[in-house]
Order: sequence, then C-alpha cells, then structure tokens
Amino acid sequence: MHKFTIRRWIQLLLVGGLCLGTLATSGAVSQEEPASPPETGLSLSQEVKTGAAAPEPAAGPSVEEPAAQTPEQALQAAKEAESRRRRASGLLARYGLTREQRETLSARMGADAALFQKLEGGELSRAELAWLGLPNARPDRLDRYDAWMEAHPEDSRENAVLQVNIDQDQPFYSLIWETADPDSLSVLVNKHYTLPAGYVPELEALGKGYGSGSLRPEAAQAFRAMADAAKKDGIALRSVSAYRSYKTQNSTYNRYLKQYRQATVDTFSARPGHSEHQTGLALDINVASTRAHFERTPAFAWLKEHCAEYGFILRYDQGKETLTGYRFEPWHYRYVGEEAAQAIMDQGITFEEYLALRPALGG
Ligand code: DAL
Ligand code: ZN
Repeated sequence: MHKFTIRRWIQLLLVGGLCLGTLATSGAVSQEEPASPPETGLSLSQEVKTGAAAPEPAAGPSVEEPAAQTPEQALQAAKEAESRRRRASGLLARYGLTREQRETLSARMGADAALFQKLEGGELSRAELAWLGLPNARPDRLDRYDAWMEAHPEDSRENAVLQVNIDQDQPFYSLIWETADPDSLSVLVNKHYTLPAGYVPELEALGKGYGSGSLRPEAAQAFRAMADAAKKDGIALRSVSAYRSYKTQNSTYNRYLKQYRQATVDTFSARPGHSEHQTGLALDINVASTRAHFERTPAFAWLKEHCAEYGFILRYDQGKETLTGYRFEPWHYRYVGEEAAQAIMDQGITFEEYLALRPALGG
C-alpha cells in the first residue's frame, strides 16, 4: 500500500506535475471527556525508538508552493528543470545507484535547483543519494534515517523514512516544532507540531441546526453539506465542540490534570497549542465521550462511509494509537479537503502517514 503510494508519487514527479501543498498541524481542547475510566485507558508507547542523539529542531514537514509565473516564465522554468534533470541523470550514473533511485533523484534535481547544485558540486555522498532516491526522504532528516537503520537493522529503508517522517524516532512532546503554515488545510498538529499560542483562524458559526461552535469557513460549509446529506439518510449530525482557543484548551487540559495523572490525560486531551481544534478544521460530532460508544451508532457508520466525500477524515482511529498519540475518538473529524480525505480514508492510513508519504523537496 505504501509502496504503491510512493510509486504513484514518483510518477507524478517524473511527469513534472509537482503539485505540492503544505503540511500542517495544531489543535485546542474543550469538553471532551475521558470516555472510559483513565486507569483502563490505552497506554501509548512513548518510548524512544532509537538511541540517536536528539536532532536539531528542523523545518517542519512543509513543502513550498511555487510562486505565480507568467506563461513565458513557466515555460522557461520547465526548460531549465528538464535540463537539470538530464544533467543530473548523467552525473548520477557514476554512483552505482539503482535505476529507480536515479529516476527519482533526477526528477528531484529537476524540481530543485539547490539540490542539483549540491550534486554538481560533489557535495552529496552515495549514502545520502541513496536516501534521497526515495521520493519522500527529507534532506534535513538523513541523519535520523541512518540512526533508525542502526537501531532497526532488519527494517526496510522505505519504512525507516516513513517512521522518521512520522517522528516515531522521537518520544511524544520531546521535540516540538512550531508549524510553518497554520492556515494550510493540511496543517499537521499533533504531539510533535504546535500552533502558535496566539493563532486564531478565520471563523464562521456553524449555524442553527448544526450544533455548537464555529469552524473555518471552508470546513463549516463542508460540515453543513455533510450534515444535510446525512439528514436525507435519516442520520442526525451535530457539532458538540468545534474551534477551541489555546486558552480554552489550556484550562481543559489543566482541569484534567487535577483528576488524572499526566500520562493518562495525554491519551485523550491535547496539551495547549497541540489540539487540532485550535486550527478551526476539527470538530466533535454528536458525542465526545468513549462511554457513549459512538462507534456503535448508525451515525458513525455513515460518517465512516461518507465523511471523505465532504473532505473530512476520522482523525484518531482504533489501532493507530501509537501513530496519532491518542486513544480511539470515533467522534473527532478533521477537514483536510476532498482529495486528501479520499486518499486517507480509502487507504485506511492516518494523516501522519499520508503526510509522511508525500514527496519531499529541498536540498
Ligand atoms: N481530544 C483531542 C485529542 C484534543 O484534545 O484535541
Ligand atoms: Zn475532538
């Protein structure tokens, strides 16, 4: 599944269709309850998976949008990219790489002048090129890929890149990056990526008949469309918690801390700055408590089948706790846009995995 996705990305790169978005993060808290007695809650693995020294906080998983160009400039840029790609292909022949690696690398060099210059200047070792021959390998994480392989010698290189891109080599909340683009629809907010404390998105009330709270306009509109469609199928969908400010999340999280130990609270409530609710792109539907067993309701079944059609994903699925950092939350949905949502829900992967599989750029 992952291999297939990577291959698809390689094809996209080769065709020159570098359609890149920006990765993102974030969230806030409010009325979610620890759905089940915390003592019986999941214990999430927060162990360090490698003995590697902590890496420098580096750039987050963001990919730059190309600047707007006139048709002439675009043509010229395409010619230069093609020329770099061809020259890279020639230079790469001497490194003893596989054909697949060379093709991925030349596509990357075509798209990335700085990386090509490094190749031309002889600044890239064969080992570095072998990592960069995987389309989703990030140039600023090569040391971490090496450390992962040292700690997991049996692992495949593809999986090493995937795991490190998801930050599985770092314990939760150990190294925290502030997200580069909080307004991106694909902003990643989790236990590794935080929103600025003062970040407040543009918001729109969901409106009468749709439950409480507000979301970013595109997410609010999508939620209303989804709720209207569900209603036609006899399913009622209502928001019980949508946008939450940093301050609200702070008081919610701290309130839980008075009741439960932190390791338990961290399985169901995000620390301030780390809640997706602060993005204005996430909401809790109908209930926000595990005790209610929302996963056994027709509303949940409907959402699982249809949410992606409206650009939403089930964000904290069962069985994915070690990746997301949270216990199963069948009520929590995140707007990511239709294309990403379809890919994520069809493949049964987390948002973290989806972003980690995307091709990377940059030298
Ligand atoms: N319950 C989710 C993880 C939050 O607090 O944002
Ligand atoms: Zn939620």
